[in-house]
Amino acid sequence: MAAITIKNVNKTYADGFKAVKDVSLDIADGEFMILVGPSGCGKSTLLRMIVGLEDITSGDMIIGDKRVNEKAPRDRNLAMVFQNYALYPHLSVFENIAFPLRLRKAPDAEVKERVTNAAKLLELTEHLDRKPSQLSGGQRQRVAMGRAIVREADAFLFDEPLSNLDAKLRGQMRTEILRMQRRLGTTTVYVTHDQTEAMTLGDRVAVLRRGVLQQVASPRELYEHPVNLFVAGFIGSPPMNFLPAAVRGDQLELPFLTVPLTPSVRERIGDRTLLIAGIRPEYFEDASLVEDSKRDRGSVFEVPVDVTEWLGDSQYAYIPYEAPEDIQAQLRELEQELDSEHLRTQMVVSLDPMSRIRDGETASLWLNPSRMHLFDPRSGENLTRDEAPVKPEAAASATPPAPRTPA
Ligand SMILES: Nc1ncnc2c1ncn2[C@@H]1O[C@H](COP(=O)(O)OP(=O)(O)O)[C@@H](O)[C@H]1O
Ligand SMILES: [Mg+2]
Repeated sequence: MAAITIKNVNKTYADGFKAVKDVSLDIADGEFMILVGPSGCGKSTLLRMIVGLEDITSGDMIIGDKRVNEKAPRDRNLAMVFQNYALYPHLSVFENIAFPLRLRKAPDAEVKERVTNAAKLLELTEHLDRKPSQLSGGQRQRVAMGRAIVREADAFLFDEPLSNLDAKLRGQMRTEILRMQRRLGTTTVYVTHDQTEAMTLGDRVAVLRRGVLQQVASPRELYEHPVNLFVAGFIGSPPMNFLPAAVRGDQLELPFLTVPLTPSVRERIGDRTLLIAGIRPEYFEDASLVEDSKRDRGSVFEVPVDVTEWLGDSQYAYIPYEAPEDIQAQLRELEQELDSEHLRTQMVVSLDPMSRIRDGETASLWLNPSRMHLFDPRSGENLTRDEAPVKPEAAASATPPAPRTPA
């Protein structure tokens, strides 16, 4: 096993396209690192530079304590783990796992010992004589990992291994990969465009956008303290709401409520007059279900509810609002880049399934605005990553403006 250090790595393809731009990333020995971002952001390119399938234009790739830039893939001792279709259907599970050892003509005794040990680890012992077609999807994934294990690779690399599977199988396989990684403790780099996979699998997640690393952090840190609009919009489902927020003196006007800014955040905002406020759907609640003690730590305001969706264990309400054209344009662009189908001029609110709020009603919502993020609309920078924009006790006395009618 080994740590992987990526130092100021760049990739320019032969046609001049810069796919990876000055990426530096330290992956600890035994860590499960996710590379995530929309399609085309450079995830596969970066993974292929780690494993040696793609030349590194500049920078250093260090595995363990050796620089490997000039080393051939087979000399890097890393294992790409392919999904189940890479198994040979006519070979037994034993021979499928043994495959890399057979390739290098390892003695039979060694093959037997390594395959037996790997099978034990992977709970495949009683399946060794079967063919891949006789196994479940999860078991096949384990066979593919068995192949990587017998090679005693320093790290496992996965490139979107679950993207061709249906939702149910994807969930099962995700659990399987996580369980095996925890059991083996092998350094793992896993590429996906799926934020759910990123959030559930990784010790840490590296978010890429157009070849540039945006933020590397634990899933929780990314979710609660995104560095910018891009990370905030990419992580979380349904996505964070982005609302226009007008600065009026030391007050902030949102579509449905006005809140007082803390002096230090007010100072940070400087002469910006319009911001984008980021509020996650679950930061809202049906005001009628909020206990008195908690009610005082937030604001209550009225909204026009367009549609509600009841899903048994959760419920969403969709609330249209108006936004100035420049903010709308900025959000449309972000939406496109995130491959998001979310309509940005409607707010999504997560409600308790017990809530009686219904379509077409004016509903009373509760929000603790100290949980809100404020973004610079031009750079996308999160101006409130380390500090709440509103004090909770101030929020309680905030005056809601007259509710606006939807467009
Ligand atoms: N051989 C190549 N020549 C030129 N551009 C390439 C080549 N391979 C990939 N690209 C471009 O580099 C960018 C990143 O590709 P890739 O790493 O495959 O993205 P991802 O895996 O994040 O979807 C894409 O815009 C892609 O079109
Ligand atoms: Mg890819």
